[in-house]
Amino acid sequence: MPRLLMCPPDHYALRYEINAWMHLENQPDLALARHQWQRLYEQVRQLAQVELVSPAPECPDMVFTANAGLVVREGEVLLSRFRHAERRVEEPHFRRWFEEHGYIVHIMPDDCPFEGEGDILRAGERYLGGYRKRTQICAHRVASEYLGHEVLSLELVDDRWYHLDTALFVLDERTVVYYPGAFDSYARRVIEEHFDTLHVVEEEAMHFACNSVVIGQTVLMPEGCPLITALIERRGYRVIPIPMSEFIKSGGACKCLAMFLE
Ligand code: ARG
Repeated sequence: MPRLLMCPPDHYALRYEINAWMHLENQPDLALARHQWQRLYEQVRQLAQVELVSPAPECPDMVFTANAGLVVREGEVLLSRFRHAERRVEEPHFRRWFEEHGYIVHIMPDDCPFEGEGDILRAGERYLGGYRKRTQICAHRVASEYLGHEVLSLELVDDRWYHLDTALFVLDERTVVYYPGAFDSYARRVIEEHFDTLHVVEEEAMHFACNSVVIGQTVLMPEGCPLITALIERRGYRVIPIPMSEFIKSGGACKCLAMFLE
């Protein structure tokens, strides 16, 4: 059974603007957010073991645990080094959780922003890495040394898709679901060259279709994405739509709210 890390939304809030989705005048309904998080949590719990990290009051985005770091091998994590000061305050909290749970914690060089599983995703023996918006290219080299595998570097070119996991997910080790408009033309070639692909249309990418969690044959996907759902179901997967409106106001959805621990 896979193991994932989540963080209850007790202190979730929208207090600053660090991506194109966040607008202080468009505040999330926090009761509804809790409800949506709970729904995702219940679904994940049916398919995987879920660990919880305690939320810290000064970290309104800590709920997005995909950005805590990247597990580079069993029991070893490469901790994130957030691009923005607003999120850097999360680092000691995540670090403490990993240390208390017996992980060896690797640290990025100071000048090398890296936002964890938000920007590096595994596809079998390969890894895909997004860069430019949050994670910088230097982090791919450091990560690939810890991983012992190459990271295929993909440039993100649209501010709305600022983490790799907002624009792409791995369905199985040979198949990638993605929104082409988020990437530069060479990155699109890299993806098409290495994988069988399913394309997400812009409207469904705006509903965070690419921010899905795949566990076995189940895909937990933000609701409002019927076209890509049909394509994925045709491949024998079960797609479960999850309402995520209140997290999308902060630029995140299902995948951002969970980090794979192995
Ligand atoms: N408000 C958060 C930020 O801008 C959202 C993070 C979403 N996480 C993700 N893995 N895409 O940093």
